[in-house]
Amino acid sequence: MPDSGGSARALCSLLTDELAAFDEFGTETSVSVTEVDGLSGCLAIDTFTNEFWTSKQRAANRLHEVSYRACFKPQLPRFFIDRLTAPGDIVYDPFMGRGTTPLEAALAGRVPVGCDINPLSEILVLPRLEPPGLDDVEVRLAEIDLDVSPRRDVGGGTHDDLLVFYHPDTLRELSALREYLLTGEAEGTLDAVDRWIRMVAVSRLTGHSSGFFSVYTLPPNQAVSVRSQRKINERRRQTPPRRYIPELILKKSRALLGGLEDAERAVLSGVWERSLLLTGSAAATPEVADGSVALVVTSPPFLDVVDYAQDNWLRCWFCGISANEVPVTVVHDVFAWQEAMTDVFLELARVLRPGGHVAFEVGEVRAGSLKLEEAVLPCGVRAGLAPVLVLINEQEFTKTANCWGVSNRTKGTNTNRVVLFQRR
Ligand SMILES: C[S@@+](CC[C@H](N)C(=O)[O-])C[C@H]1O[C@@H](n2cnc3c(N)ncnc32)[C@H](O)[C@@H]1O
Repeated sequence: MPDSGGSARALCSLLTDELAAFDEFGTETSVSVTEVDGLSGCLAIDTFTNEFWTSKQRAANRLHEVSYRACFKPQLPRFFIDRLTAPGDIVYDPFMGRGTTPLEAALAGRVPVGCDINPLSEILVLPRLEPPGLDDVEVRLAEIDLDVSPRRDVGGGTHDDLLVFYHPDTLRELSALREYLLTGEAEGTLDAVDRWIRMVAVSRLTGHSSGFFSVYTLPPNQAVSVRSQRKINERRRQTPPRRYIPELILKKSRALLGGLEDAERAVLSGVWERSLLLTGSAAATPEVADGSVALVVTSPPFLDVVDYAQDNWLRCWFCGISANEVPVTVVHDVFAWQEAMTDVFLELARVLRPGGHVAFEVGEVRAGSLKLEEAVLPCGVRAGLAPVLVLINEQEFTKTANCWGVSNRTKGTNTNRVVLFQRR
């Protein structure tokens, strides 16, 4: 792998040639130039458009199957990990969300490092980097007493408003599980199996099938308000059915862990010791050493397209997090967004090793009138990084693309637009 300027440049030129000639999925790459007025004149960056990855290409590991608003497909980080890193290298995502990049990196034998401003992310990511055995999950679920607790908050109050989502007995079990986990967290007694159970429970809180704890509602990565759920219930003439929490947690655990082979477990445990997950701002990560990271694959909040606090309120409630107090970067104004992203790039330039790369994925927002890749290019350049290319992955609109929460092009994107930078 490159560690000097010359070999790093050679690697970039190999990648450029590969993208230009790419036709694995039956279409030829279209090559154009993205031009941006930049600091000292015009930036003209080679831009490659094609279907470079697809979900059909190779089934992603089932450990990824925890939904999260605005997540990307595992094939996206994998594309860059395979081409720009070697086993043992550090791969980092400063906006990790559900942890697609760190998990895919770990599965590829790279050291996963991740950060997110919302503590919910670490709750979703950590347990999948150290997955327990299914038997251990089953035993622990049988040990936790979900029968005792009244519907009371750890602080004292009840949460009867949640009866709009849950059958009374399901809510009783859910409250008991929540209390068990919050108490364990406060007392420092949670182990890897408890953390796994918490992660799975978070992913099952609400959804639109009988695999979730709730009555029919929106997909699990978008919790609706109590008021909206009341309307959904009226419209559909539904009342929450009894759902059995341990049973559903075990079922989902089976789905997540079922395909995990011993060899994959060995790869995960080989990088576990060196992994690092942080909760905090992407622009201030002193825990990540200078010059240590080979590759960053990330996707920031796209201006104010997604309301993370609203979407995650129920998940945050379950984990004892005040959703409204998480200082998520949500800005409407492009210049303010560019300032925030420049601060992040300055931090990325610090942690990247010479020759290391940043693959920065952004969407097409405001009905295509604003191309965020054009807004991102000057941010990276300001931080001293060299722009290498823009890659646009065009795909049929799919279910996973729907996790952007967009059903058309007026509010988001169904393409991945990635700007690749390098520390020279
Ligand atoms: C587009 S999502 C990332 C999704 C991720 N690529 C995945 O596959 O799950 C953006 C993430 O940035 C996080 N975030 C927002 N502002 C942040 C900040 N200032 N520092 C770190 N993370 C932030 C949000 O909580 C959210 O999880």
